[in-house]
Amino acid sequence: MCGIVGYIGQNDTKEILLDGLQKLEYRGYDSAGIAMLNENGVNLFKVKGRIATLRERVDHSIHATMGIGHTRWATHGVPSEENAHPHQSASGRFTLVHNGVIENYQAIKDAYLSDVDFASETDTEIVVQLIEKLFAELGDTPAAFRKAMGLLKGSYAIGMIDNKDKETFYVAKNKSPLLVGLGDGFNVVASDAMATLKVTDQYLEIHDQEIVLVHRDQVEIQDLSGTVLEREPYTAQIDASDIEKGTYPHFMLKEIDEQPFVMRKIINEYQTEDSELKLDKNVRQAMKDCDRIYIIAAGTSYHAGLVGKAFIEKLANIPVEVHIASEFSYNMPLLSVKPLFIFISQSGETADSRAVLVRIKEMGHPALTITNVPGSTLSREADYTLNLYAGPEIAVASTKAYTAQIAVLAILAVDTAKAKCLELDFDPMQELAIVANAMEVLTDQKETIEELARDYLSKTRNAFFIGRSTDYYVCMEAALKLKEISYIQAEGFAGGELKHGTIALIEEGTPVIAISTQENVNYSIRGNVQEVVARGANDMVISMKGLEQDTDAFVIPQVHELLTPLVSVVPMQLLAYYAALHRDCDVDKPRNLAKSVTVE
Ligand code: F6R
Repeated sequence: MCGIVGYIGQNDTKEILLDGLQKLEYRGYDSAGIAMLNENGVNLFKVKGRIATLRERVDHSIHATMGIGHTRWATHGVPSEENAHPHQSASGRFTLVHNGVIENYQAIKDAYLSDVDFASETDTEIVVQLIEKLFAELGDTPAAFRKAMGLLKGSYAIGMIDNKDKETFYVAKNKSPLLVGLGDGFNVVASDAMATLKVTDQYLEIHDQEIVLVHRDQVEIQDLSGTVLEREPYTAQIDASDIEKGTYPHFMLKEIDEQPFVMRKIINEYQTEDSELKLDKNVRQAMKDCDRIYIIAAGTSYHAGLVGKAFIEKLANIPVEVHIASEFSYNMPLLSVKPLFIFISQSGETADSRAVLVRIKEMGHPALTITNVPGSTLSREADYTLNLYAGPEIAVASTKAYTAQIAVLAILAVDTAKAKCLELDFDPMQELAIVANAMEVLTDQKETIEELARDYLSKTRNAFFIGRSTDYYVCMEAALKLKEISYIQAEGFAGGELKHGTIALIEEGTPVIAISTQENVNYSIRGNVQEVVARGANDMVISMKGLEQDTDAFVIPQVHELLTPLVSVVPMQLLAYYAALHRDCDVDKPRNLAKSVTVE
């Protein structure tokens, strides 16, 4: 949800900003802009569209050693050049970029800015206009900046330039992610370390309601009262090659192919040299102590949570509820006496999940975050974190994070079962190793899946996925993957529910993709396939070895029946990928979406 990058130093800022924004494009890509300050004042360039368009628009002859940039995912105001950031105050003195949502923007407008002519429809513009108003009153930029931040309600990561001061870059954060990167004679600001990893791996965490005055060779963190705060930098643990596509045409395909390596990495990270499970003992205790688990997540992570519920209930004998984060507050269930909340989030920044975390922490309940980004907001604010070790996931459609989440949930369930001395006939590491091999077999069969995608999905308007038991959860994920990148209207249904309404949608040629990996439901799901075929559906059955029939379109290798979602999802991801390619869709950056949803 919008990406910010900033630079102040000795070198020309253009390439650092443009390259940083390119790396942040996954956070939003409907419009973009940069502002660079030099002896001629602020040089501002904004476009509707992507960073490539911005790059064409920028005057490359301009030299400046300080600047800010922004890539936008529209919240207030349509994607347009006027609404693109940076925004400027009425006099042009202050130039600002923002990620987040200012909830009280109307109240601020009414109270302070009734005489201002606004140039955009954004909530962001009120921030920069407010700073100018407060500056007129206080005569000091840091004081005006601090006071303005104190008046804002909502989420923000902000970068600002005062064109009368070439030595200071102003930064503020509340709920939206923002880091300051430290260099030798320069400093940078970014929504994600990925953006500026090329120039530094040393970063300072910025906490909510803090502002930072970033100079060329010094950084000063303050709270909103102006008290200076000390903080040690940390080294970003991202390998620069992880954030490049290499020879792959798309990040999504690269990330699908990485899944066997991620499984092996998880096995290594969660196992001691003596092949014992290795988990934070506090997590183990929290799992042992609770009487019910509440999993909170969104989108793909929610789908992983559904599979996790099956593991934890079957193996560790703890009741689990899985909730969509954005709905939790409206229908908060009656909580048990000793609840444990598990937040599943690839990015660790999803605002809906964070809102629940804040609420349940206020209520005094323990929280565990399972995330791919250990320093993320959800990780920092929960009591415990389990890392996914999937490496940066850049394609907007989540693939390797989903399978990593399921693998870590399986390990967590087994570890808890062992801690509770429950009888267990399941070695997760051995089974995950088999899964890794099976994933490799599947990623080697891209041509077959590409053909299926072409035959079934290249022309259709809609598609249905049906399954029972955990196959149903994979169907939900398969449908989400297909709709988000190929724009085919797709739904995942429980096979048994079809007759209760959905079957009315089946017409001559409607693609119905059935997953069958569970022995106990193989017979019934095949019955459901016959029902839709009898009504004209174009069926594609994807089954597991041992349960297959001659007419099945694709057979996945056999793995432990608990872990089949890890394997059956791979052809689903590839189907979505090739369907999107056949329909000329932008696989890595589907329309209207952003990778990390940092607004509620
Ligand atoms: C779909 C997808 C989204 C995310 C969801 C939650 O491919 O990526 O549905 O799963 O926005 O994001 P995280 O896991 O970062 O909390």
